[in-house]
Parts: sequence; C-alpha cells; structure tokens
Amino acid sequence: MLNLDLFSDSDEGKGSSSSAFEQDTQKATQIRQALHRYAHAYYTLDAPEVPDAEYDRLFSALQLLEEKHPVLKTPDSPTQRVGGAVLPEFQTVRHQVPMLSIRTETDNESTGASAFDTRVRKELGLGEGEPEVDYVAELKFDGLAMSLRYEKGVLVQAATRGDGEYGEDVTNNIRTIGQIPLQLPSDVPEVLEVRGEVYMRRDDFEALNERQRLKISKGAKGEKTFVNPRNAAAGAVRQLDSHIAAQRPLSFFAYGLGEVLGWSQQITAFAHHFELLQQLKAWGFPVAIQTQCVKGSAGLIQFHGQIANERDALPYDIDGVVYKVDHLALQERLGFVTREPRWAVAHKFPAQEELTTVQSIEVQVGRTGKLTPVAKLAPVFVGGVTVTNATLHNEDEARRKDVRVGDTVIVRRAGDVIPEVVSVVIEKRLAGAGIFTMPRVCPVCGSPAVRDEDEADYRCNGGLFCNAQRKQAFLHFAQRRAVEVDGLGEKLIDQLVDAGVVSTLPDLYKLGLTALVQLDRMAEKSALNILKALEASKATTLPRFIYGLGIRHVGEATAKEFARHFGTLDALMQASEELLLEVSDVGPVVAQSVRIFFEQPHHQEIVAQLKACGVHWEEGPPAERAHQPLTGKTVVLTGSLPNLSRDEAKAMLEAAGAKVAGSVSQKTSYVVAGTEAGSKLDKATALGVPVLDEAGLLKLVQGNNHDGT
Ligand code: IVH
Repeated sequence: MLNLDLFSDSDEGKGSSSSAFEQDTQKATQIRQALHRYAHAYYTLDAPEVPDAEYDRLFSALQLLEEKHPVLKTPDSPTQRVGGAVLPEFQTVRHQVPMLSIRTETDNESTGASAFDTRVRKELGLGEGEPEVDYVAELKFDGLAMSLRYEKGVLVQAATRGDGEYGEDVTNNIRTIGQIPLQLPSDVPEVLEVRGEVYMRRDDFEALNERQRLKISKGAKGEKTFVNPRNAAAGAVRQLDSHIAAQRPLSFFAYGLGEVLGWSQQITAFAHHFELLQQLKAWGFPVAIQTQCVKGSAGLIQFHGQIANERDALPYDIDGVVYKVDHLALQERLGFVTREPRWAVAHKFPAQEELTTVQSIEVQVGRTGKLTPVAKLAPVFVGGVTVTNATLHNEDEARRKDVRVGDTVIVRRAGDVIPEVVSVVIEKRLAGAGIFTMPRVCPVCGSPAVRDEDEADYRCNGGLFCNAQRKQAFLHFAQRRAVEVDGLGEKLIDQLVDAGVVSTLPDLYKLGLTALVQLDRMAEKSALNILKALEASKATTLPRFIYGLGIRHVGEATAKEFARHFGTLDALMQASEELLLEVSDVGPVVAQSVRIFFEQPHHQEIVAQLKACGVHWEEGPPAERAHQPLTGKTVVLTGSLPNLSRDEAKAMLEAAGAKVAGSVSQKTSYVVAGTEAGSKLDKATALGVPVLDEAGLLKLVQGNNHDGT
C-alpha cells in the first residue's frame, strides 16, 4: 500500500545528499512498482487489491513526474501501456486495430470538460469566434472492453482488450450473453468489429453473490463471492468453463468500431460517430439511451451534471462519462498521443470505492434477535456520502473477509445499496490484529446467542426480554404499514424502553401524560399528540395487527393472506401447522414460526392485553365461505398494466376466487390486457373472450377484496 503523500510533487525533505531529480526518480520507480502490482491483481487475476480511485491517484502522480522529467518515461511504465497480460489458458488474438485507452480527467468538477474542449480547439486551430465543436457524450460503463468480430454478419470471435494489441479469445463465453447478436442483418460490411463494454447489472450482481454465499455456506469448495459487478463480469468472461459463464448474467453496450472491411452497398462509411451509434442500434446492439449529441464545453458540462444526478438510479455502475469528437474527419485530424486518442476523454465521477480503516466491530441486535456484525469506520467520502458504518452481514462473511480492528479496507457504496466492506488490504494489517469472533452471548441482554444448523445468523434467544429486540418490536408495531402510531419513532422508543416505562406492547396503551412529560425534551403538546396517536391506532385492521405482532417470516403480504384465509385472529391463533399450510404461499418455515409464536403463553397474554386496552378490528368469515364473485372464473393476464405488477394483479384475482391461467382458450372467462399484449390478446378477440384493461380488472374485483386494508 502506498501513501500518495510520499509521492507529492514537493521538494520537502530534500537533503544535500540527493538532488530533486534523484528523489523524483526514486518516487517514480516506487509508484511504477506499485502500479504494476495493482494492475496485475486487477487485470490478470480479476482480484483488485486497491480501489480504482487509489490506482488513478498514483497513475496521475506518475504521469506528472514523467511530464516533469521525460527521461523517466520508460517503455515499461504503466502510463505507456493499457490493460493487463493475456492469460495463457486462452488463445491469443491480435487486434487488427488496437484497442486504445482513453485519457482520464479525474476531476469531479466541470473543469475536466472545459479542459478537454480547450485542448481540442487548440489542436484544431479554432479561434475564439469560431463555431463550437460537436461532441457525442456517452456513459463510461464500468465493465470490461470487448471486441466482437463479425464476418459476413456472423459472430466469429470475441476478444478481451488484453494489453491493447493482444487480447484473449473468449468467444464461447461471450456467445452466452443474450444481448449480443450472434447474427446480424444482411446489410453489414464483410468484416465488422464492434467494440463495447461487457458489464453486470447491479441486481444481477447481488443475486449472483447471494447464490455464491449459499454455495459457500453449504460447503462448496472453490467458490467465492465477487467484490463488485465489474470484477464479477471479468471473472465470468474469463471463466474457462462456458457452462459456468452462462450462469453469470452479463449485459453489453456498444460504443465504437474496430476493424471494418468491405462496406456494403446500402451502408457506406459514416461521417459522424453519432450516426455510427445509431447504426449499431439498428443492427441490434444495445446502445445506452443516455448518449447525446452536444455542442461545445457548455454541452459537455451540462451532460456531466445530468448524468451525475442520474447515476445512482441507473441499474448498472458507471464511473464517469466519455466525451468524443463527433466528426470522424476531425477525429482523424486530431490523431493519437501514445495510446490515447486526442479526440476522446473520460471524465470521472467521485469514486464508489475508497480506502478507510476499521475502528471497531460492533454487534447489533435486530427485531428477531438476529446479531449483525457492523464495522465502525473512520469517516470516508464514498459514492457521494460520508460513510461510518458498513455491515459485515454475519459470522461467515466476517470470517471470509477476515476484517479485523485496525485494518485498512476497501469500502464500497454504489447506488442506494448499503455500504459494504469489499476486502481488506492485507499488506497494511497491523501486527497483532486479532481475528473477529461473534460473541456467544447477546451484547444487549446477555442471553445466549445461538446459531442453528443451516443458518448463517446468530440469534439472541432473549426474545422480548432483550431490550434491543423489544425496541425493534415497538418500532415494527408502530410503523405506518402495521398498527401505525404516528410520532412513535426510534428516539422515543429508546427513551421509553431505557427508562423502563414500557416493556411489552400493551404498556404503550397504558401510558399517561405524567409518564410522557417526564421524558427528555417532551413538551406537553407533543405528549398529548402521542396519546392521541395511540388512541387513533386502536382502530386497526386484522392484517395490520397480525403484521404488527412481528412474527418471524410473516411479512405484510403473508399477514394479509392469513387474515383473508382465517377471517378471525382466534382462528389463526388456534390453527394447527396443517391448517396453516393450507394458506396460499405459506410453507413449512412460516407455518412453524406462526405456530411457535402463538403457542407461547406470553404472546397470548400480549394479544389478550392489547384487546383489553381497546385495540380492535373487524373480523369476517373464513375465506372458504366468503362471497367470492369470481369463483369458477378463469382469467388470463397479458402485457404490462399501468399500475399493477403481474403478481399484484394475480393476487387480487385469486383473492376474489378466480383462477389465473397462462393461455387463452374457450374456457377463459376474461383476458386482462396491458400494453405490449401479444398473441393472447389476438386469440381472445378471435374467440370472443371479453377483454378488460386495468380499470376493468379493478371493477371486477371491487368490493370483494377481503384483506381489509
Ligand atoms: S471508447 C478510443 N467509450 O473505458 C477510445 N470506452 O480506457 C476507446 N469505456 O476499458 C474507448 N465506456 O472499455 C469508450 N462509452 C465508452 C466507454 C469506454 C467505458 C471503457 C473501455 C476501456 C476504457 C478506456
């Protein structure tokens, strides 16, 4: 690990024994060594050691030194090459047109854009009064560069960038990516190399890591989780077994061309980069919709700002934007410096991965008693916010990452995903740093913490005797989607529980003004509001009440289903596991959890007391006997509805007694069609089956929705 301060461009510490030049030479050598090592880990091993931001900082420092003393620009310097070595396992491919790197403006403000425009104008000899340069502004995808070679319209080869001149033949793996056309329309050139980025969407990455964690927890050998989507994508592309690669969901965006031979009659060479992107889209390649044609530096700055705002909402990672001169003739005039074109620049955003240190590891207790280790970090600005906590998930994850107090770690925060410790920078570990172990007792109540077989988590078995779980139970009960006690938030609950004023849910309804105004910062007016909110919360619904009890594995949807199925709380409380299993979507885990919950006398007592305090709801007959207007009707859903998801529409119909089928036949009672409805709609029309839209669907089930919300 290098500290950039050591490489700052100052003459500090300059002694009589060594000149500034000698010092710079030494610095350059050290940085080069570090960069070589980091690049090897990143490109060749697909296992990055430090965040990109750290690499970029060292890289820029080296560039500065080399600019200052051109003799330091050795041919083996990382500034003189792109990418990494080629793995011997793959066939080597020579790129007919080299795969270049782009100069990076790391700067977070608009100056990166204006500096680029200034350089371009100068190179083109454009004076002040002369027109603005046209640019294409694109996203800088955080994946890996790929060259796709099509001959006579057929994908014959896919190659990684490698060192820019020689890449690896990864055709078999790339063929498994659904977004990459294997065959192009007939109007393409004889030879067409499409260049772009292979990447992994964030949701696909999370799901993949979830699957990997499951495999590891089941004892699978040689499996690992991935540190970020790009690393996962690189691992998948360079996977030797294509079957495994096929299970790693990859995506693709096209952004340029490599070798092109023999333009067809219909398509002649383009004059503009933007036209080329449109053509790539027409040929079936994904091109990011954010791509824009803009004018001059103002246009670039505007684009940079707009994308910075949209970044978190994108379903994939980007690390910046790329600006390219639109006119290909001008691109040609601008040419290249070493291996970077003068007509393009990457303008980066603040990093989503940064380095920081672990100050302590705390164990937090959740509502269901789950113990979660959390790393307390030295504050670090990453992904646009200051991060001080990162979850370590559970014991296995903490062990696997082997995070220890005092460690230097890579922290990642991308999008709205909670901050995570990606990995430890082992070379920075302090001597004597002890391995983290989960406590065997609950850190809050001292009850034994137990980990069941097949479970990743330790749980405090203190139940509601544990203050941490108690607090969470109150919060859960009082939340908007449960029994809803307006104003009863975390701070108030902390005070009430810590002061011993409330210990079980019914205690809430026994609160009086005197007890409340004695609390810190509680004026009479707020206290009265809380009492009013508590009073109002007494009139609730059965699903909200069931959900509010906080039974493990019983979410909102399951609570609704129970209310609908049993009609009354008593029926649910008395139901055997067998009866519980009859409820739709209820499996053995949920059934057992409900059974165990209601078997406990103190839970029965809590329910009885809540009722005695005046908490009430409407009850109804169990579902079987309920009036169900759609009983015996079969409904088919097709296309997408404006407001309801497919699952929601299905649940509604089933709740009204209908059967939801997959295909249209004479027996179909109704077809509900949204936009992009296909052949099912045609068939319905042909058979004369009534077709409804979303409003029609709602009408059909209206008044028959027994979930009581
Ligand atoms: S153009 C001559 N456009 O950034 C320019 N590259 O150092 C060639 N990248 O790893 C590249 N998004 O894969 C270009 N819209 C984009 C890009 C992009 C991401 C990557 C590229 C390479 C690096 C260039």
